[in-house]
Amino acid sequence: MASSAVIRRLVTFIVFFAVISVWTTLQLHRDFIIGSNYEAKPASIQARVEHVQDQQPLTIWPGSNHSYYKVFYNRLPKCGSTSVKILIRELKEKNGFKFFEDKDYEIQVLSGRNLSRFAQMVDRLPTPSIYDKHIFYVDFQQFGLDQPVYINLVRDPVEQRISDYYYMRFGRHGENQTAQQRHRRTEKERSQTFDECVFNNLWECNASGAKRFLMTQFFCGQDSICMEPSQAAVEKAKENIRRHYAVVGVLEEFSSFLKVLEMVMPQFFRGAHDTWRGIESQQMEYQKTAKKRPPSVKARTIMRQRLQLDYQVYDFIKDRFHMQKTQLGIVD
Ligand SMILES: *[C@@H]1O[C@H](CO)[C@@H](O)[C@H](O)[C@H]1NC(C)=O
Ligand SMILES: *[C@@H]1O[C@H](CO)[C@@H](O)[C@H](O)[C@H]1NC(C)=O
Ligand SMILES: *[C@@H]1O[C@H](CO)[C@@H](O)[C@H](O)[C@H]1NC(C)=O
Ligand SMILES: *[C@@H]1O[C@H](CO)[C@@H](O)[C@H](O)[C@H]1NC(C)=O
Repeated sequence: MASSAVIRRLVTFIVFFAVISVWTTLQLHRDFIIGSNYEAKPASIQARVEHVQDQQPLTIWPGSNHSYYKVFYNRLPKCGSTSVKILIRELKEKNGFKFFEDKDYEIQVLSGRNLSRFAQMVDRLPTPSIYDKHIFYVDFQQFGLDQPVYINLVRDPVEQRISDYYYMRFGRHGENQTAQQRHRRTEKERSQTFDECVFNNLWECNASGAKRFLMTQFFCGQDSICMEPSQAAVEKAKENIRRHYAVVGVLEEFSSFLKVLEMVMPQFFRGAHDTWRGIESQQMEYQKTAKKRPPSVKARTIMRQRLQLDYQVYDFIKDRFHMQKTQLGIVD
């Protein structure tokens, strides 16, 4: 009798254990597929996988302590942000959220009171909402505020520099002179090609120029270590991406970026891909930078070297994005 009781208990235990395992697996699977949803509990959406290059765990989903209703798009210049903004404007009615667009063109570095005031302003915005600004990453937690979840879009650093270079001279197709004048370049500067800029070590292209590690700075943030180029700034940028960015896409795979956003944040980006297909053709022409002259291979090679910190960040982002796509089953 005693032994059959033991067996019964053992069987009960095994069945119980099996049920729990299956349930857990299903839960994980559900969180992964459906629960890519932002409303899911933070703890359950921490999918960690090994990062091939860094041998460090990659957090596909943002960690805890994020406010799941506020998305911060600290957009980089000349990386497709106009397209993303146009798309968000289309989606905000459909998906029922607010979109707060910053009108400031300049990239600002904030410190002290200005930074805390800025964080408080963003914190007070109604939710659910997306806020965008050209600004280096801001750590809200240092002010005891909820961290919004971040998204961003980058592109190949040399391509970004080329696009920025000509944009600062000639603006976009269809833009009029007043808009162009804002870009403040002299006649002489306007006549110089990107190749000349690179080969003559001019300030916009040289190794000590203001934008020599701009991509790194956007993810590194407002700290003093982010103000001078260094490996520490790169590491800090990667750490912030891991911990605080739900999605950082690459412009070269814009359509996948939209699909990932749709799966990770359906409450904001449901229908993004189809909506974009509907408006894409009329947008692309307008957004092209005017008079862009393709630089030589040699100039590209030199710039690639000068931008090697940004390439570390860019390669990290690209690997992470590809891993995220794989996890979500997005193929193209
Ligand atoms: C989340 O915030 C709480 C209180 O602000 C803090 O104690 C905790 O360590 C934070 N957790 C993480 C993972 O950052
Ligand atoms: C705050 O911003 C104002 C205006 O842009 C500037 O003059 C001031 O120096 C800034 N203060 C700090 C502490 O950065
Ligand atoms: C050109 O500039 C004028 C004056 O600022 C403005 O009213 C107009 O809308 C602009 N046109 C375009 C196409 O941007
Ligand atoms: C970059 O250009 C600026 C302005 O012309 C100059 O002062 C600086 O020395 C240059 N730096 C390098 C590394 O060539």
